[in-house]
Amino acid sequence: MKLKNIMKFCLVSSLVLVVGCKNPSITTKTNADLDKKVDSLLALMTLDEKIGQMNQYNGFWDATGPSPKQGNASKKYEHLESGLVGSMLNVRGVENVKAVQKIAVEKTRLGIPLLIGFDVIHGYQTLSPIPLAEAASWDLAAIKKSSEIAAEEAAAAGINWTFAPMVDISRDARWGRVMEGAGEDPYLGSLIAEARVKGFQGEDLSAVNTIIACAKHFAGYGFAESGREYNTVDIGTSTLYNTVFPPFIAATKAGVRTFMNSFNELNGIPATGNKFLQRDILKNKWGFEGFVISDWESIIEMTDHGYAENDKHAAEIAINAGSDMDMESYVYVNYLAELVKEGKVDEKLIDDAAGRILKVKFELGLFDDPYKYCDTEREKTIGSKKNKEAVLDVAKKSIVLLKNENNLLPLKKKGAKIALIGPLAADKTSPLGSWRLAAEDNTAISVLEGLQKYTDNKVTYHKGVTLTEGKPEFVTETQINTTDRTGIKEAVSIAKKNDVVVLVLGEHGFQSGEGRSRTSLNLPGLQQELLEAVYQVNKNIVLVLMNGRPLTINWADKNIPAIVEAWQLGTQSGHAIAQVLYGDYNPSGKLPMTFPKSVGQIPIYYNYKNTGRPTIPAPNQVFWSHYIDESNEPLYEFGYGLSYTTFKYENLKLSSHKFNKDTEFTASISLTNTGKVAGKEVVQFYIQDLFASITRPVKELKGFEMVALEPGESKEISFTIDKKIIEFYTVNNKWESEPGDFKIFIGGSSKTVLEDTFSYSN
Ligand code: NOJ
Repeated sequence: MKLKNIMKFCLVSSLVLVVGCKNPSITTKTNADLDKKVDSLLALMTLDEKIGQMNQYNGFWDATGPSPKQGNASKKYEHLESGLVGSMLNVRGVENVKAVQKIAVEKTRLGIPLLIGFDVIHGYQTLSPIPLAEAASWDLAAIKKSSEIAAEEAAAAGINWTFAPMVDISRDARWGRVMEGAGEDPYLGSLIAEARVKGFQGEDLSAVNTIIACAKHFAGYGFAESGREYNTVDIGTSTLYNTVFPPFIAATKAGVRTFMNSFNELNGIPATGNKFLQRDILKNKWGFEGFVISDWESIIEMTDHGYAENDKHAAEIAINAGSDMDMESYVYVNYLAELVKEGKVDEKLIDDAAGRILKVKFELGLFDDPYKYCDTEREKTIGSKKNKEAVLDVAKKSIVLLKNENNLLPLKKKGAKIALIGPLAADKTSPLGSWRLAAEDNTAISVLEGLQKYTDNKVTYHKGVTLTEGKPEFVTETQINTTDRTGIKEAVSIAKKNDVVVLVLGEHGFQSGEGRSRTSLNLPGLQQELLEAVYQVNKNIVLVLMNGRPLTINWADKNIPAIVEAWQLGTQSGHAIAQVLYGDYNPSGKLPMTFPKSVGQIPIYYNYKNTGRPTIPAPNQVFWSHYIDESNEPLYEFGYGLSYTTFKYENLKLSSHKFNKDTEFTASISLTNTGKVAGKEVVQFYIQDLFASITRPVKELKGFEMVALEPGESKEISFTIDKKIIEFYTVNNKWESEPGDFKIFIGGSSKTVLEDTFSYSN
């Protein structure tokens, strides 16, 4: 046996004895057990090897962003072989993952397996709706299920870590990444964060169909000034704690194993170098035991922010601030050892970071079997019928009915002549939405295919106008077609000859997502022109919107009788839309984000503060908080969504109007289905704290329940109010329930119908 091999054998044997690596009979049961294993392994590692664990490299291709350091492949390979890489991203497929894992396990001194990360944002290959759309379902079980399917398919493709969920709250539809979050509300956002983390990670991380989740982007990314991607964030303590933090807290409580920091600066300090966020709050205050990864090159970007002098300084700042793993900045591997030697970084911080990363590897069971996600048979189950059915279920639930005058919808299943018009009507790619790195173009069911499947109606299709030119992955406004009007005439003549027109308009699949901020939220290109031209000849229009963010559709709201918000619903889009249009599924979605009337109203959100001048004091007065050219009201409010039936809210009853820290009371209402078909309604419950040590929003969502009712059926729905419900981060820098008077509201949207008051005393 060669000396090198003997050494390796001894090391590996001692590792087996000490930490139980590669010994399937030793399972990772308790945290104390795990900590011991981690410590034993750390004790065997050199400083360079520990730093190697904190280094993540992009894989064989560059799927997510510009990387000036491409061309470094041989260097990366060398590092991988020498144990200087702890994780890779964008390597996928059993064969590829096995290849890199084999190098880590067989060629490096200690054989420590890699974490394989990937942006599994709304599914791997079988795509569910974009996250914003899923949030519109308000169906936590369906959302959890969708993350389970995503995890199962990703794990079958060799992946063991997703960079999801994105839990950034945002009030700005100009920001392209709103498609990736759960909307504007911290309460709904927290429940969805929990559902997604639990869906990805499951009950048992060592199972073969679960993967680790990542709560991102910590923190404040959704508050980019002007909605411009990566822009400066400047927010006060109350917004940070009461609005931005809650979903991150929920993810931590749900056991999320990783956090990703963010590209933005927060109040002058880049999040990646922000010790307050990563060490003081996350690790110390919240007791987060997992690890923090930087965003792509966000460590070296601190030099552009003007916060680090050079790359080496950036590495020093990032590790001291609590960023445990470096995604593609190359600076941990290049400078950390030097920084330790120079006394600028305490080796204990390296031990802590590497230890956190190793712990997750143990939890995943990678030391027991590094190839556990590399089963070619399991890989064949990706895209199964079962998964398609599951994503169809959540897709239907995500659709929001915005308008339905004279019950134009549902459409007749027989004997109707339908004109299907619009650049997105037969599109099989845009419905997949942004962030779908592993799904092929042309794999969504189009609306055309959906409509044809569910009836024998004659459907005549014309695209009318073209949305974009060329391959629109990095679509810019100049690629949006605004010159070719030839199709409008033909579409109009088809519209004339049919009973009803289904117009499918909206955004191209890559018009939202990372790096896709917009200053206008109107229908892009010639779509508005097409809509108005068709309206001239046939008023029976069902407008189906396909988009990744709220749009400004005032004209449509005023003139078009039926509007369906169908977002980008993933692989099964066309089926879901057709089922809703034909009434096989009665829409139940509610908006998770306010639709503005005008971009100038942004940021617009339901839980705003009153100001000192909230209402007009006298006719023709100007000195109150308003615009002179637009109302303060949104087009569609948060929580809004119609059904093919109608619901009546009545009899709000409070079991008491007073409570204290030791008591609670219930608020109940009676809900009746007053229409002709069965339907589901999301009953929403809000409060307003009338005066407090810090001004409070005019309304805050505090509970909701999805209720299914047959025609004529009534149910009593009740919510319990205790001191937790009224808690907020107060002027004392604590979560507290302050005594005082409150309003309670219950209804089918944030413009609620029933209201009462109560008071709380300590
Ligand atoms: C940059 C994005 O901000 C982040 O969310 C993503 O996970 C990484 N790129 C990796 O692709």
